[in-house]
Amino acid sequence: MKTIKVGILGSTGMAGVEYVDLLVGHPWFKISTLTGKKNVGKKYGEAVRTIKNIPKEVEDIEVVEPDPKQVDADLVFSSLPSEVAREVEAKFLEHGFPIVSETSAFRMEPNVPLIIPEINPDHLELIEIQKKDRDSFIVTTPNCTAVGLALSLKPILDNYGIEKVVVSTYQAVTGAGFPGVPSYLILGNIIPYIKKEEEKVSSETKKILGRLDRGKIEHAKFPIEASCARVPTIDGHLEAVYVETEKNVKIDEVIEVFRRFRGEPQELNLPTAPRDPIIVTDLEDRPQPRLDVMSGTKPGMSIVVGRVRHGESNNTLKYFVLSHNRIRGAAGVAVLTAELLFVKGYLEGR
Ligand SMILES: NC(=O)c1ccc[n+]([C@@H]2O[C@H](COP(=O)([O-])OP(=O)(O)OC[C@H]3O[C@@H](n4cnc5c(N)ncnc54)[C@H](OP(=O)(O)O)[C@@H]3O)[C@@H](O)[C@H]2O)c1
Repeated sequence: MKTIKVGILGSTGMAGVEYVDLLVGHPWFKISTLTGKKNVGKKYGEAVRTIKNIPKEVEDIEVVEPDPKQVDADLVFSSLPSEVAREVEAKFLEHGFPIVSETSAFRMEPNVPLIIPEINPDHLELIEIQKKDRDSFIVTTPNCTAVGLALSLKPILDNYGIEKVVVSTYQAVTGAGFPGVPSYLILGNIIPYIKKEEEKVSSETKKILGRLDRGKIEHAKFPIEASCARVPTIDGHLEAVYVETEKNVKIDEVIEVFRRFRGEPQELNLPTAPRDPIIVTDLEDRPQPRLDVMSGTKPGMSIVVGRVRHGESNNTLKYFVLSHNRIRGAAGVAVLTAELLFVKGYLEGR
């Protein structure tokens, strides 16, 4: 089997280091290029020394500029800051690189798939529309907060229909990148504002849960009201979700629906796919970021749902959901998407 060479743009950041962890020893993908900005010219191990202990295999790779001429890869992952991503990703597309991007730059473009592999693998068909204009293509993955929300809503939508969603979030500091929020602002504190986050959670979740119809995505119609806060946890975004459903819901049944939920990654047994995309805890005081964020067969790739209960009527549901923002919410969802692209034959072109 041909090995796919992969480059990681923004490899020295909070999310970038998680790609490296997932990709060293990967059965199909091999890291060929690592890019940065301030760290250009350093060895990778030195560049990320204060963020994470990384595998020996990548310690000595030199960090380079995100310049297509310096990147030798069949696929690039983009974990760039959103302010620079649009220009840099466009340049890589022009040079014929397929891209899987976790940045917001192209997520909401009509012809760009926004993918959570368990939910909407069919949206990858949009690649054919992109390929009418050029040889390369871009696939995006969502904002870290939208990932946990959308995954937990998908089985509810399919089984009961959704009228309305209200979500309040408690988001970890690593979601703000490195070095992120100044310690004085976040230690012993909560900041009830994250720029553009509430809009992204709502619009991206509706695109992911939308239906592809004759080459166009019809976004889900129900309202999603989000309130987002930064809290002093390290990894794992916790979300308190309230859902009004079209049909009445029985709590035992919906728990079973969550537990049985599977998607194409599980059917295809993709290397990064967790056995259970949704784990439900019965413990009354869980999920907790510190205790539960690495649950499951592929640590960081399952979301954990708990405190599933009714609101004031049988067509309302309340629960907490926890997802690892840098793994399931960033590097993990991107690598899983790339694995899906690989098995579907989209990475044979370069
Ligand atoms: N952190 C998360 O949990 C998370 C989750 C989902 C999505 N995302 C998205 O992923 C992207 C990266 O997030 P992050 O948290 O990893 O950010 P970060 O920690 O700030 O890392 C940014 C990376 O981009 C590089 N970079 C910075 N400025 C650059 C420039 N002008 N040109 C080229 N490269 C540049 C940095 O290199 P140097 O270190 O060498 O300067 C570093 O490798 C963002 O778009 C973010 O919204 C993050």
